[in-house]
Amino acid sequence: MLVHFVTDEPAKIPAVRAMLEPRFHVVPQLLGGNDTAIGPSHVLMVDADLRKSVCVEQIRLVFRELNCIVEKLFVVRNHVRSMVAQAHALGATAVVSRPREVIVKLAQIELAKRASQADGVAGASPEVTDSAAAFASMFSAVRHGKAINLSDAEYATSQIVNSIVQNGLTAWLDNVRRYHEGTFQHCLLVTGVAVSFALDTGFSGPDVARLGLAATLHDIGKARIPVSILDKPGRLDPAEEEMMRRHPVIGYELLKDISGISPEILDGVRHHHEYLDGSGYPDGLNAPEISDLVRLLTISDIFAALIEARPYRPAMSRQDAYKILCGMDGKLENSLVKAFRNVALRA
Ligand SMILES: [Fe+2]
Ligand SMILES: [Fe+2]
Repeated sequence: MLVHFVTDEPAKIPAVRAMLEPRFHVVPQLLGGNDTAIGPSHVLMVDADLRKSVCVEQIRLVFRELNCIVEKLFVVRNHVRSMVAQAHALGATAVVSRPREVIVKLAQIELAKRASQADGVAGASPEVTDSAAAFASMFSAVRHGKAINLSDAEYATSQIVNSIVQNGLTAWLDNVRRYHEGTFQHCLLVTGVAVSFALDTGFSGPDVARLGLAATLHDIGKARIPVSILDKPGRLDPAEEEMMRRHPVIGYELLKDISGISPEILDGVRHHHEYLDGSGYPDGLNAPEISDLVRLLTISDIFAALIEARPYRPAMSRQDAYKILCGMDGKLENSLVKAFRNVALRA
């Protein structure tokens, strides 16, 4: 579950992260900073000095941007009466006196959400909502010229792995296609397909996570491509196509200096549009230079793209999409395309 943490003190952010993660994923926002509020989180947690009118004003602005979030938890140390009153005036749904008490509240909210999911009351599954929010956070960071937080990508990947393991690929595809569109939908679908492929192939847990993370990040370079090109309701002209084809290198450049990123992930991001016959881009690699991870990722990417609705064409059926993969002889590895049949066609 995603917790949007709003505070006036930078030092509180690592403390709250240490307390809540990994069970809850924390999206921090410093009052008065340049951060854009990212939706959709499930819960707002506020720990700030409510005696300062400037803080209260800034919180109001944040709430206005995040008005879809119902649960608003305030931490007011020692229950200072004026601050408790201010919290309620701001729309608090709960006020606690110590950050630790928030965990209990969060657990209650999570339980209620899961129960309403089971009843079919709520919309998208928590995994879809959480991973989409983590994608939103990454794309927003890139668009604002900030560093990508690798933990966002790892969190999104782990949520997707959980969902695929528990409910299978078809449920994931249905859920994502119902609630998201455009580049986010594509990234969520590719990761779901790649994770299913890895699980079906019998990969170990770390290998599933590695392919999943490469899929999560594979199109991050698109965050630097103008939306007018990404969402163009028609075919791209040659100049736009040229710009679009830069996204693997842009993604690679955005990620290469992040500590903890592995060479395999960078390879996947840069080379997921390469083909075995050398006709791909950006480096025109040939078969011996294309790793297994990239080969799996490319198949997952093409399949997911085909089963998405695009502004200029409807979504293709999984059967038809698989037929297209089978026809890409020489570009994709035949044995892998055969192995992918299970993933592609399983109901
Ligand atoms: Fe791509
Ligand atoms: Fe892609």
